[in-house]
Amino acid sequence: MEVRSEGFQVMYDKLHAPVIPRSRFRFWFIRVCSSIVLWTCLVQLVTVSELWNSHFFTGLTSHIYHTTHTPIQDDVRLTESPPARNYTSNGFLRVSCNGGLNQMRAAICDMVTVARLLNLTLVVPELDKKSFWADHSGFEKIFDVKHFIDSLQDEVRIVKRVPKKFSRKGGFSTMAMPPVSWSNEKYYLEQILPLFAKHKVVHFNKTDARLANNGLPIDLQKLRCRVNYQALKFTPQIENLGQKLIQILHERGPFVALHLRYEMDMLAFSGCTLGCTNEEAEDLKRMRYAFPSWREKEIVSEEKRSQGLCPLTPEETALVMQALGFDRETQIYIAAGEIYGGERRLAPMRAAFPNIVRKEALLAVNELQQFQNHSSQMAALDFMVSVASDTFIPTYDGNMAKLVEGHRRYSGFKKSVLLDRKKLVQLIDMHQNRTLPWNEFTDAVRQAHEKRMGQPSYRRVIADKPKEEDYFYANPHECLCEETKCDDLLGPRNSRQVR
Ligand SMILES: *[C@@H]1O[C@H](CO)[C@@H](O)[C@H](O)[C@H]1NC(C)=O
Ligand SMILES: *[C@@H]1O[C@H](CO)[C@@H](O)[C@H](O)[C@H]1NC(C)=O
Ligand SMILES: *[C@@H]1O[C@H](CO)[C@@H](O)[C@H](O)[C@H]1NC(C)=O
Ligand SMILES: *[C@@H]1O[C@H](CO)[C@@H](O)[C@H](O)[C@H]1NC(C)=O
Ligand SMILES: *[C@@H]1O[C@H](CO)[C@@H](O)[C@H](O)[C@H]1NC(C)=O
Repeated sequence: MEVRSEGFQVMYDKLHAPVIPRSRFRFWFIRVCSSIVLWTCLVQLVTVSELWNSHFFTGLTSHIYHTTHTPIQDDVRLTESPPARNYTSNGFLRVSCNGGLNQMRAAICDMVTVARLLNLTLVVPELDKKSFWADHSGFEKIFDVKHFIDSLQDEVRIVKRVPKKFSRKGGFSTMAMPPVSWSNEKYYLEQILPLFAKHKVVHFNKTDARLANNGLPIDLQKLRCRVNYQALKFTPQIENLGQKLIQILHERGPFVALHLRYEMDMLAFSGCTLGCTNEEAEDLKRMRYAFPSWREKEIVSEEKRSQGLCPLTPEETALVMQALGFDRETQIYIAAGEIYGGERRLAPMRAAFPNIVRKEALLAVNELQQFQNHSSQMAALDFMVSVASDTFIPTYDGNMAKLVEGHRRYSGFKKSVLLDRKKLVQLIDMHQNRTLPWNEFTDAVRQAHEKRMGQPSYRRVIADKPKEEDYFYANPHECLCEETKCDDLLGPRNSRQVR
């Protein structure tokens, strides 16, 4: 069974995505590149003289830390590392990320930010190997660890492991704990920082959603973005294959990346069985009961669906895409693992959209082989293609959908169709029982999504209900505007047209 997906912890968050953008691959690519180049030039200018200095860091470690040149690895970063920040480290922060690739990605951004806030030395995060998505890839099998360390050294010191002398054998105790979810900087300064006086090493053994969406100082919010959009680069193997896929797709014309989250794990977890055979429904139920951490066991599929809590089925997705105006020629890349029910369930989609492609069909067998048993690496390829696509359509709002949405906003407000599933299932049912003719159905579907294309907007804030408000990584609006107050987010510079 091939299972992959994005963490369930945040899966039940409702995405009430608002919004707007514009897009075209080349355009944003140039934009992003030039801002990276500009930024580094600036840093370079200020610090040319310091480049080869080594910095001595006092406090805990009295360790010599070298600032080194990052070799030029690709044309995106014709740059050298920024000079290292000189600060007294208060201790080592170890973190074990949990969940799927994108949940871990958000957690890594949060943890760098916490380490910066508390003046800690961060140990390269450990990735989840035990959860449902079990993939034995460590950080360095997925991300470019050197780039991660070097490109952030002007903010925070990152080391590959805790030095031996601070280990248990050295007489130091490590404190393991999960930090409280959705906390702001006060929690970390008041509750966590004092722990480092006693324990030189603190180990956060669970890291999902550990920083609040809102109310953090702007410099911390911007650092979260910097980690996400600049410091976290996939390994050259993944980057190269991802770029190759993107190039093949672009050569064939514009394309939609469809995150068709109709995978077995998703259906078992959510209990959504519309269109499944009785046997399949039983299988899904058995799987749900087999996972103790999936607490909800008895589920009425119809109720879930009417609340908008089921991923759209392939049949529903085909209808909705047709209603949105996508025609038979549309090239659709399926950014997902195995579709439950296989070709049988995909048939209605193929009938409506013959031009459906999957990575298995675009790449040679041996090219994908190296990633075959690594769900996170496969997910990384889909992530890259989804970010680069002309239009992105997720059929469910898990972490991948949200992180890709945010990445596309950052890349110049590229079009992401944020489906209103609750509304859609009503319209679909009415169309299917013939109360809503096709024309009225398409009008209603289009109207419901006019403002759900990833346009510039502010995140929705709901005091005390962090899970219900807009997720920071889906719309990091602080990073998408010029002014610190973000008064210009909806202004003329950020065109309200979706690219
Ligand atoms: C780092 O800062 C400390 C304290 O301000 C200073 O004594 C030391 O010389 C600095 N080290 C470097 C390499 O700049
Ligand atoms: C972190 O270090 C800076 C100096 O680099 C200092 O001003 C600040 O108070 C320190 N913060 C903490 C929480 O140690
Ligand atoms: C994290 O550490 C705490 C304290 O040692 C422990 O109770 C908890 O089970 C650990 N959680 C995980 C996910 O390992
Ligand atoms: C992937 O795992 C399966 C089953 O564990 C094994 O049969 C297969 O050879 C593995 N494939 C690769 C490319 O390692
Ligand atoms: C058609 O479906 C809608 C939505 O489920 C429902 O409200 C309506 O009563 C149905 N109409 C008929 C004639 O079945």
